[in-house]
Amino acid sequence: MTTFIEQYIQDGKKTIEDKLKSYLQGNIPEKLYASMAYSLFADGKRLRPILLFASYHSYRDDLEKVYRTAAALEMIHTYSLIHDDLPAMDDDDYRRGMLTNHKKFDEATAILAGDALLTYSFELVASDPLLSENEKVYIIRELAKSSGPEGMVAGQILDIEGETKRLNLEELERVHQLKTGKLISFAVDAGAFLAGASEEQRRHLRQFSHYLGLIFQVQDDILDVIGDEKKLGKPVGSDTAKQKSTYPALLGLDGAKQKMDEYNEKAKAALVQSGAKQEYLIGLLEYFGSRDY
Ligand code: IPE
Ligand code: IPE
Ligand code: MG
Ligand code: MG
Ligand code: MG
Repeated sequence: MTTFIEQYIQDGKKTIEDKLKSYLQGNIPEKLYASMAYSLFADGKRLRPILLFASYHSYRDDLEKVYRTAAALEMIHTYSLIHDDLPAMDDDDYRRGMLTNHKKFDEATAILAGDALLTYSFELVASDPLLSENEKVYIIRELAKSSGPEGMVAGQILDIEGETKRLNLEELERVHQLKTGKLISFAVDAGAFLAGASEEQRRHLRQFSHYLGLIFQVQDDILDVIGDEKKLGKPVGSDTAKQKSTYPALLGLDGAKQKMDEYNEKAKAALVQSGAKQEYLIGLLEYFGSRDY
């Protein structure tokens, strides 16, 4: 039987895939287009756009307003994965059930496809006919902040540094919060902002998404140990091979799961305070911590 939230995820996935197809157009050199489309239309879970939809839906129903912002977020996420897999970074051969971008094409093309998805995402928001100028500036700034040198990219360099030194729990939490949590927090905040939620409501949601982001990456670390490679569409054991600092490496599997339970309680408490219609975000919170791919 399909649960309410599974159905919501399926529907959101379909919506964002259609939108991504309609947005990735233009006078793009053939090889670059092929490489961008290869990764963008691989079978990603689309959880960040779906989370943005859920956050918006917690206050309003007219979802069209967030389509471009959600697509821009997924493009940035996809760029981050293309670069994350490069030989100079995690050096992985499979992603989303297919060869990684640099294996399918070549390194230069993969780097450029990532660059192109990153920059195109901002063009997409800047030319959104449904947002006011103020809304566009807010979204562009927050998207840049959460993916840039104080956000995801910061987390990625700290993650690499974590290969050669042992991080403590506090340091590891910071890496996870930056490399994964920031884009997840952007999804929640952008949805609430564009839906007109109050500053106070968004303050509670920021607490919620802080823990949600951690839960997402801890589960990613756990799946790197006990996940099914076929289901995941990416190799397991990649973190161990690279001696990454991860929650299971630091706390053991049980310790990592226990930490997730703790984050879960904190996330729920913050959500209650946010005045959001909770069914969507609670559903995704549970899904993020229990997903098997
Ligand atoms: C993988 O993200 C990278 C992390 C930040 C943990 P996802 O698990 O959302 O990957 P896709 O988009 O479904 O491929
Ligand atoms: C990646 O974290 C986070 C990004 C910013 C891309 P991981 O390196 O753990 O992601 P996977 O396991 O390769 O998807
Ligand atoms: Mg990585
Ligand atoms: Mg990786
Ligand atoms: Mg991982």
